[in-house]
Amino acid sequence: MRKIPLLVLLMGIFELKAQTITIPIETSQNALVLQTDKDNRLGIIHFGKKLSQSSEYVTIGQSLKYNDNNAGIYNSIYTPSGSWSLVEPAFEVLHTDGNTSSELKYVSHQTQKIDENVSQTSILLKDPIYPVEVTLFFKTYAKENVMEQWSVIKNQEKGNLILKKYASANLYFVAKDFYLHHYHGGWAKEMKPEDTKLTAGIKTLDSKLGTRANLFQPPTFMLSFDRQANEDDGKVLLGTLAWSGNFKIDFEKDSYQNLRLIAGINPFASEYTLAANEEFKTPSFIQTYSENGKGEASKNMHNWARKYRLLDGEGSRLTLLNNWEATYFDFDETKLTSLFKGAKELGVDMFLLDDGWFANKYPRNGDVAGLGDWQENKKKLPNGIGYLVKEATKAGVKFGIWVEPEMVNPKSELYEKHLDWVIREPNRPETYFRNQLPLDLANPEVQDFVFGILDDLFTKNPELAFIKWDCNAVTYNAHSMYLERTKKPQTQLYVDYVKGLYKVLERIRAKYPKVPMMLCSGGGGRVDYEALKYFTEFWVSDNTDPLERVFMQWEYSYYYPAIAQCNHITDWSNVGIKYRTDVAMMGKMGYDIVVSKLDEKELLFSQNVLKNYKNLKETIWHGDMYRLVNPFENQMASVQFVNDKKDQSVMFNYLTENRYDLNSLLSNIKLKGLDANKKYKVKEINLYPGTSSTIKENIIYSGEYLMTIGFNPSVSNRRTSVVIEINEVK
Ligand code: DGJ
Repeated sequence: MRKIPLLVLLMGIFELKAQTITIPIETSQNALVLQTDKDNRLGIIHFGKKLSQSSEYVTIGQSLKYNDNNAGIYNSIYTPSGSWSLVEPAFEVLHTDGNTSSELKYVSHQTQKIDENVSQTSILLKDPIYPVEVTLFFKTYAKENVMEQWSVIKNQEKGNLILKKYASANLYFVAKDFYLHHYHGGWAKEMKPEDTKLTAGIKTLDSKLGTRANLFQPPTFMLSFDRQANEDDGKVLLGTLAWSGNFKIDFEKDSYQNLRLIAGINPFASEYTLAANEEFKTPSFIQTYSENGKGEASKNMHNWARKYRLLDGEGSRLTLLNNWEATYFDFDETKLTSLFKGAKELGVDMFLLDDGWFANKYPRNGDVAGLGDWQENKKKLPNGIGYLVKEATKAGVKFGIWVEPEMVNPKSELYEKHLDWVIREPNRPETYFRNQLPLDLANPEVQDFVFGILDDLFTKNPELAFIKWDCNAVTYNAHSMYLERTKKPQTQLYVDYVKGLYKVLERIRAKYPKVPMMLCSGGGGRVDYEALKYFTEFWVSDNTDPLERVFMQWEYSYYYPAIAQCNHITDWSNVGIKYRTDVAMMGKMGYDIVVSKLDEKELLFSQNVLKNYKNLKETIWHGDMYRLVNPFENQMASVQFVNDKKDQSVMFNYLTENRYDLNSLLSNIKLKGLDANKKYKVKEINLYPGTSSTIKENIIYSGEYLMTIGFNPSVSNRRTSVVIEINEVK
């Protein structure tokens, strides 16, 4: 029989006498309140609006139905398994002695004020029988009403502890009904929204793709309480998991019709072994809650992201000309240098060289070969990257470059030399995604190799101004030769890959803290708030059809601020250049065209827009975003940005459907976020050469008027996109 140590016995006695502990975790508007029950288990007794008298929280627990007798199982803040709980666990382990049960009881907590705005509460939970502890962390950003939460699991057993499930967050909500707004997608079809009323049972959002984890389902969602929240009213939680790998978010409607949320790394094929005294830190679950609709929740997230998460979120960005759609793999030095001139003529800050510049034995002339061999292709670029950087500088633009350092084509020298670096099942046929395979980032040698690619480029070309980091394949046959060699379980690969990726990015940022980097993944197959610690922006989608983009950018915009979203004007669709440009302008603008192919008017138009963008970019990048007209419910979309001082604003209006009569578009659109007492002038910008505006320029409106009566941008099938600049009249 197992001996129970004296300390554990004493703890048991202490628990009998334990008093009720209430822990409010608050932001300026909201509270998550936890309370111990008679058995010293910690449950959630309130989630939502905070009370002005925090002493009143103590009483909530007494009236809770789900907190009595043996029903106290549902509202646990970190649900263990194999003991008293029979619902979806947050925590499941296999102890050294083979036992599968777990229990977590409250031990202590503390709150540390990091600064005026940020506080961190940590709560220590322990299994009274086994020496395993879990510390739950809650970091609150008061002004932004954002809460970041994660857990640290510590093994104090003498042998290995196997983590079978190790969630980041376990929350509990009480409401009449719950409505989930979530997404599905694929290449060129990112962020397709779905709305569903949650019913009894479990609804799961998850990924098992390894790399490019959010290709089919992103870890972002909005959860409405009681009824569907709208832009400006309703109770809604906007949540996301900051993890660039497999994730699982469960929404379990329990037998009280309340909702349990469990979010974290996907336990699928991911048992993780902790040796004695080792600990495991889970990724962060990030959420914000609003009782004033999706717009406010989204604004909270933007404010938080720019200030605390996105790399250089409060800084500037470079406009650029990319050659991907302009040349694909077919280019040489002459072609590229002529594009530099186009970039300058257009008026962008930088030229970005995309895929196809490397590999010699198996030249990268298509997506079938060369990936992994990061030496300049001598035929295409006889004078190397250094020459291109110099030529770009001479032409008056900066130079950036594309890499896909995590991947390898089987047709490459790297594959021939380092088969053991490749993720593949040694005894099974390889399965490819875009003719390539991921490298094994669990392996420190591979981490060095990946870091080396970037380090080498920067060392040889210190003026390199930008990196586009791509990742085009998912992970089939998840097997690591490194884990095999080091006798570690294969089930750690999915997690160790992501940890390895972060290690590399950490090293890159330690040495090159400032260089802007675009997170790209065959379009938008990878974007999350952990990766965005290292990246300044992300590629929304390869689909640059502006009509599709209106919808996609609308959905992405709930979670990520405009400064992070790369929108390029390309020739993907034959919609006129004005509509394409106006749509790209509501984020971080770029081009992917051959400038010399623009006619005179198109060029003049684009040059003027870039000047307008220079004038408005601060407002778009750092201002508040308001969604005015939802294209999913109307025949058009309207989006507005307002700067801090409320003396500049810009309104983007896009016709999205013209099959029916356009009468509904003749009505005014009420602006938001202006100062009611300020006077404003409105002016249509981005006019196509030879056209004139129907908007009268000399009317002076009060902010109150524009927000109460509204303003009609006159979108019609002859004016399919209309951009309005609004400035204070002083
Ligand atoms: C996928 C990206 O999304 C594209 O923008 C481009 O960089 C290609 N990869 C290059 O192979």
